[in-house]
Amino acid sequence: MKKIAISLFSSSGIGDLGLKENDIETVIGCELIQERMQLFANNYPNAKCFNGDIWELKNNIIEFYKSKYKTAPFLLIATPPCQGMSSNGMGKMLNDFRKGLRPKMDKRNRLIIPAIEIIKELEPEWVIFENVPNMLNTIILNDNNEPINIIDYIKQQLFPKYIGTPEVIDVADYGIPQHRKRLITVLTRNHNGILEFNKTGSLIPKSTHAENDSELKKHWVTLKEAIGDLPPLRAESGKNIDKKIFLHKVPILDKKKLFWLDNTPEGETAFNNQCINPKCLFSKNKRHGSSQNSKGINKYNSCTPLYCEKCGALLPRPYVEDSKSKVKRLMKGYTSAYKRMSWNAPASTLTQNFQFACSDNKVHPSQSRVLSLYEGLIIQTIANYNYSFTIDNKIVSDSLIRETIGESVPPKMIDLICKHIIQISEQEY
Ligand SMILES: C[S@@+](CC[C@H](N)C(=O)[O-])C[C@H]1O[C@@H](n2cnc3c(N)ncnc32)[C@H](O)[C@@H]1O
Repeated sequence: MKKIAISLFSSSGIGDLGLKENDIETVIGCELIQERMQLFANNYPNAKCFNGDIWELKNNIIEFYKSKYKTAPFLLIATPPCQGMSSNGMGKMLNDFRKGLRPKMDKRNRLIIPAIEIIKELEPEWVIFENVPNMLNTIILNDNNEPINIIDYIKQQLFPKYIGTPEVIDVADYGIPQHRKRLITVLTRNHNGILEFNKTGSLIPKSTHAENDSELKKHWVTLKEAIGDLPPLRAESGKNIDKKIFLHKVPILDKKKLFWLDNTPEGETAFNNQCINPKCLFSKNKRHGSSQNSKGINKYNSCTPLYCEKCGALLPRPYVEDSKSKVKRLMKGYTSAYKRMSWNAPASTLTQNFQFACSDNKVHPSQSRVLSLYEGLIIQTIANYNYSFTIDNKIVSDSLIRETIGESVPPKMIDLICKHIIQISEQEY
C-alpha cells in the first residue's frame, strides 16, 4: 500500500524531499506564506495545499483528509518555526507566572497546539517534529492559559497512544557538510515502532560520522570535500556570478568590506585582522572579544583597536565612518561577524542570513565572499535531490531561494529518518 504523509509548516517542501525519496507521498501541505506554498505546489503537484494560518485551516485539513482517505496516514511531519523558541530558562518563566506576572511568550510557539489537534484526529502511524534544541526549554500556554513545557504538552496530549522521545542531534554526525544542531522528536503508535522504542529507547538512526575517522564512523564531511572544487567567485561586479553553474552566484560587497575580507585568514574574523602596513606588519594588535556584564549578558569589547598599536595605520577591521567628521570607529559587533569558515570542518549552520557577511560565521573559507546559493544547495543537501525553484515556469527571486534554503530541514536528514522508520515498520520482531 502506498505510504502517505501530511506535511505541516511545509514552507516550500524542501524537507519533504526526504519523504519523496522513500516513496512516501506528501498528500497535504500547509504553509502561511503564499510564494513558499506556490513553490511547494509546483514540486508536489498532486498534494492538496492549505495556504494560510494553521489555526484557521486545521479543521479543513482534518475534514479533507477524512473525506478522501479511509486509513490513517503513515507519517505526519511538523516543522514549526523556531524563531520564537526561547533561550530563557523554564525557571524564570514559571517564577514570573507564580508571582502573577504574565511571562513573555512568543505566540508562534503555540503553533504546536493545532498540529497536535490534527495528529489526534488523524492518528498517523509515525510523527516527526523538527525544531531547535531550545524547544526543550520552551514554555507555552495550554488551552487553559496555564504555562507548560512544550515537550510535556506534547506528551500530555499524545501519550500513551504514542511513544518516543526528543533527541538533540547535529546533522554533521550524519554526513551532512554542516553543523546544525536540531531537536528531532519521532513518535510512533506503530506496533513495531513501540517494540523498537521499548528495546532501544530511540527511534532515530544511529550517527555515522564524527570529528575523526574511526572503525565505526567516518569523519565529518568538510567544506573542502563538499564545495572545494567549485569555480572561485568574488563579491565584486563581474566576478560574482559563474556563467556555467546555475545559482553559483553571490551578492556584491562594497570595497570597504572586500578590503576587510581580503585580509582575513581562514577560520578568523575580520575583527582580529592585523597590520598590513608593509613597513610594520605588527601581528599582536589586541584581538576583539566579548565578556559577560554584571547581569550575565554577553557584551562585545569596546577597547579593540582600529589603528595599529605600533605604527598607527588603519587596520583592515570592520569600521563605520561618521559622514561629517570622517572619524572612523570600530563597528559594533561580535567576533562571529565577518568570520571565515574553515576548509577542514563542516560549514556553520546555514540560516536565512547565509548570504550576509555580517551574520555569524558566513564567509567563505578562502575567497572574499559569502557562500553562493548553489553552495547553499549542496550544504543543505538539496542538490542531492530533484527540486525546482520555479513558479509558473519562471525562476523565483534570489531572496526567496535564500530564505527557503535557510529555513529548510536538510532533506538528507529526513531521508535517513524515513529509511529508519520504514525499516522498523517492515522488519520482523
Ligand atoms: C522551519 S520552516 C519549515 C521548513 C520546511 N519543513 C522545509 O524543509 O522547507 C517553518 C514554516 O512555518 C511557516 N508558518 C509560520 N507560521 C505559520 C502558521 N501560522 N500557519 C502555517 N504555517 C506557518 C513559516 O512560514 C515557515 O515557512
